Amino acid sequence: MLSKRVPDEAVLAPAYARRALRSPVPRYEMPTEPMDPGDAYRLVHDELSLDGNPELNLATFVTTWMDEEADRLMTETANKNAIDWDEYPQTVELQDRCVNMLARLFHAPEAGGGAGGSDNGAAVGTATVGSSEAIHLAGLAMKWRWRKAREANGADHDHPNIVMGANVQVCWEKFARYFDVEPRYVPLTDDRFVIGVPEAMALVDDHTIGVVGILGSTYTGEYEPIAELDAALDARCAELGIDVPIHVDAASGGFVAPFLQPELQWDFRLGRVHSVNVSGHKYGLVYPGVGWVVWRSAQDLPEELVFTVDYLGGSHANFGLNFSRGAAQIVAQYYNLVRLGKQGYREVMEALAETARFIAAELEAMGPFHLVGRGTDLPVVCCRVDDAEPFDVFALSDELRRRGWIVPAYRMAPDAEDVAVLRVVVREGLSMDMATQLVHDVAAAVARLRHGPSAEQAPTPPRHRGEPAATPERPAGAPAAGGRRSRPRPPARATTKTAGVC
Ligand SMILES: Cc1ncc(COP(=O)(O)O)c(C=O)c1O
Repeated sequence: MLSKRVPDEAVLAPAYARRALRSPVPRYEMPTEPMDPGDAYRLVHDELSLDGNPELNLATFVTTWMDEEADRLMTETANKNAIDWDEYPQTVELQDRCVNMLARLFHAPEAGGGAGGSDNGAAVGTATVGSSEAIHLAGLAMKWRWRKAREANGADHDHPNIVMGANVQVCWEKFARYFDVEPRYVPLTDDRFVIGVPEAMALVDDHTIGVVGILGSTYTGEYEPIAELDAALDARCAELGIDVPIHVDAASGGFVAPFLQPELQWDFRLGRVHSVNVSGHKYGLVYPGVGWVVWRSAQDLPEELVFTVDYLGGSHANFGLNFSRGAAQIVAQYYNLVRLGKQGYREVMEALAETARFIAAELEAMGPFHLVGRGTDLPVVCCRVDDAEPFDVFALSDELRRRGWIVPAYRMAPDAEDVAVLRVVVREGLSMDMATQLVHDVAAAVARLRHGPSAEQAPTPPRHRGEPAATPERPAGAPAAGGRRSRPRPPARATTKTAGVC
């Protein structure tokens, strides 16, 4: 968030902090005098109550609940800087263990192994602040690897490009702009919301630094067909006499697919997959911000990008955009990996998938919705509203906000902007009881939107599992009331990704 300077006469009236403060506190100017820590705590704490409730925030993929023991570990390590390697060598050890566990989870070949004997050196990786940083690092590695290969062949190395679906998360657009790489987007269609493989191959040429596959899409939760991309790219590379890697953006799916779809080939089992990112703070089940990037082998990370940093008495290899960062999230990631183990992660993911499929089935049975994502890939439900309804997804999202639910509505990426959807991200914390209440609240909201506020007068109690699906009352055969709302224009592609898609 970029913050702007504003006139400084504004004050925080002591409405916040209750009785603790007797005089106003300047809003945009540092106060002249210190205040009691209890008062300051109350002031900040009370003001933050204006935020949405994280537990009801079904827009975010980011973890909002952890074990109390994890909370404790994070509080205990909040004062550690992860970059102070010499001072906190055990934190470094925990990061190394996490990278190793993830490399194995993603089937990175052992050193010297791999298809065609192409893997010289074991997998390498690092913790990042999130998938965005991980993606910038992976993108840079692809760009430098491409440039080195071109230089070695005496070929020009201007105008690199990267091929990806138009449904990529905004961080890919940022990477392309910040690091001067032409983004080549495969447009979506009205019934394909992920990358099209032949369409992607048509964009690949000898200036392509890499192809991106997403596991799964931020927009719908669907996995992209990465094995198909891999096979098609093999053929395209053979045709053009080039060697183009795939990077898998597994921001969410990297902690889902290994447990729910272990047979799915999307990772280093595929020869063209050279790097993978995953957000520890999404289905890795850690509070923000931690991410990970893993390269298939040390060869995939050009050595010029790795800095040897002499700092506080030691010398260490570092590849990252940030220098200082909190150690607590790395510690918490390690805690989760050992606390849950593979079986624990599997059980969590199965429970989330069950909840997602329950919500999807209920929404489908309700009538006005067409399901786009049913929780069969990521535990995400995504649906559109039937065109014949007198309301759209934006109105329904607003209506649900009245009950505290934060369920984003947004338009698909180009060229499917005509399709607007509502998305529910199922995370730990959304219990089956809460999901049942959500379904009930959706039905009540639909009834209000169809029949006006009076439909609110007779709320139906939340139903329990096994009872018939919730349906908003609608007189049989009655035409939809109120006519169709005009939809807002889609946001401009140039600078904006769809709001709410995070
Ligand atoms: C597919 C995908 N890639 C990248 C990101 C960015 O991840 P982070 O928020 O960890 O930086 C997201 C965030 O939702 C995502 O869904």
